[in-house]
Amino acid sequence: MYGLINEAIQGLVTENFGEEAWIKICAQAGLDHTEFLSMQQYPDSETYDLVGAASSVLGMSPELILETFGRYWVQYVGSQAYGELMDAAGTSLGEFLENLDHMHSRVMISYPSLRPPSFRVQSNTAHEIILHYSSERPGLCPLVVGLLYGLADRFETRIEVDSLDGTAEGVTGVFKITLLNFDEEQS
Ligand code: HEM
Repeated sequence: MYGLINEAIQGLVTENFGEEAWIKICAQAGLDHTEFLSMQQYPDSETYDLVGAASSVLGMSPELILETFGRYWVQYVGSQAYGELMDAAGTSLGEFLENLDHMHSRVMISYPSLRPPSFRVQSNTAHEIILHYSSERPGLCPLVVGLLYGLADRFETRIEVDSLDGTAEGVTGVFKITLLNFDEEQS
């Protein structure tokens, strides 16, 4: 994956746990470097190893690390050079999710070797969205859950995410997103 991802993991760790924790995590992951270049590609195994090492150094499950990172990622790209790209993808959670593949295609202008996941909105009503995720990478469904909560924060929408289905290797997943504001608006 592009270094942009590993750089964001570094941001999450150093902002919340300090520089020393990050150095420990890189050592535990068996890396001989602690910095990444956003535009350079690194083996996916480095990212998985960083998540595994963060889990043992910080005493959090890998799933929780991925979910926390998903929430952080939305703020990270939303407040950086990619804010406009995010803004252009929609003004509501449903609209944004409908446009997500298109948004990643636009990201490919800067990152031509990107291998993005794919998302399909099966249904989108005022109170529920059914979202299908597919990737060539295993085990990232908890990341998607965190991303969805991060996007909900961005659109000031309260949601609950349930995983409905998925393959054991986690390369596909189906998520039910319940929009909680809907009930408030009705009452
Ligand atoms: C403009 C903002 C964004 C940028 C610049 C961006 C960029 C990237 C990059 C560089 C990767 C690594 C893939 C690779 O290097 O081959 C990636 C992966 C991924 N992105 Fe995005 N992304 C953005 C927004 C989002 C959002 C809002 C979501 C919300 C669902 C998302 C979902 C994912 C997921 C789940 C992956 C993991 C890879 C996989 O599942 O195979 N991205 N993205």
